[in-house]
Amino acid sequence: MQQPIAILDSGVGGLTVVKEVMRQLPREKIIYFGDTARTPYGPRPAEEVTRFTRQIVEYLIQYRPKMIVIACNTATAVALEDIRSRVAIPVVGVIHPGARAANSRTQTGFVGVIGTEGTVRSGAYEQVLKHLSPSTQVYSLACPRFVPLVEQGNFRSKETYDVVESSLQPLKERAIDTLILGCTHYPFLSETIASVMGKDVALISSADETAREISTILHDRNRLTRDGELPVHQFFCSGDHRMFRMIAQDWLGEQIELTPVVWQVPKIV
Ligand code: DGL
Repeated sequence: MQQPIAILDSGVGGLTVVKEVMRQLPREKIIYFGDTARTPYGPRPAEEVTRFTRQIVEYLIQYRPKMIVIACNTATAVALEDIRSRVAIPVVGVIHPGARAANSRTQTGFVGVIGTEGTVRSGAYEQVLKHLSPSTQVYSLACPRFVPLVEQGNFRSKETYDVVESSLQPLKERAIDTLILGCTHYPFLSETIASVMGKDVALISSADETAREISTILHDRNRLTRDGELPVHQFFCSGDHRMFRMIAQDWLGEQIELTPVVWQVPKIV
């Protein structure tokens, strides 16, 4: 039986990575977990996000995945190494791929990063960007009001525009030429973010680059699925499954097979 790629997030955000994996690697089967009952992760303490991430990994591991993708910047920032130390399969995060893409895109070396409070507090993007190019100037900004809008499917309203415009004001005053969408939920708002930031600022989402990294790792291990029937992906969510289904089907452009999950007493791996 084909082993899937397991992808997880606090909610619908990781679907931005799923879409890119489906595009670049159409034969790979995906199992996805959105922890919509406990979203947002951004304001939660690092220890709690790590505990939730372990619990989701423990859930997904029953499906014998060949790889785990933490498609959540907040969880990548605090739990990537922890999860890597607990499982014997490759574990990919979204911060290195996003930082690499921004580093190759910027011409001025002035890079903005928007993300959750947890991601911004961790300083993870600054660290990777400075490591890639020590002279890069990084301006980070937490946008805590974005994720709840996305989880409600509220992508293009006047309210959303106003929230995005007022939240991004501090970054508009910086001369950045590249802006990292350092939260996997944000590509759902990319049209609005682009219209607020203007055409001189390139938006970077980690999704493409993460999908490329997945492909490289599977290729190097000779684990890519190249032929056979198109897979049926499986989705799990812990909260409102109607909203999850609506957002996922709209974003992915296809019907999904969704299993609602009711968390039992949280177990720690
Ligand atoms: N999509 C997630 C991220 O990339 C988490 C957002 C949240 O739950 O606060 O950080």
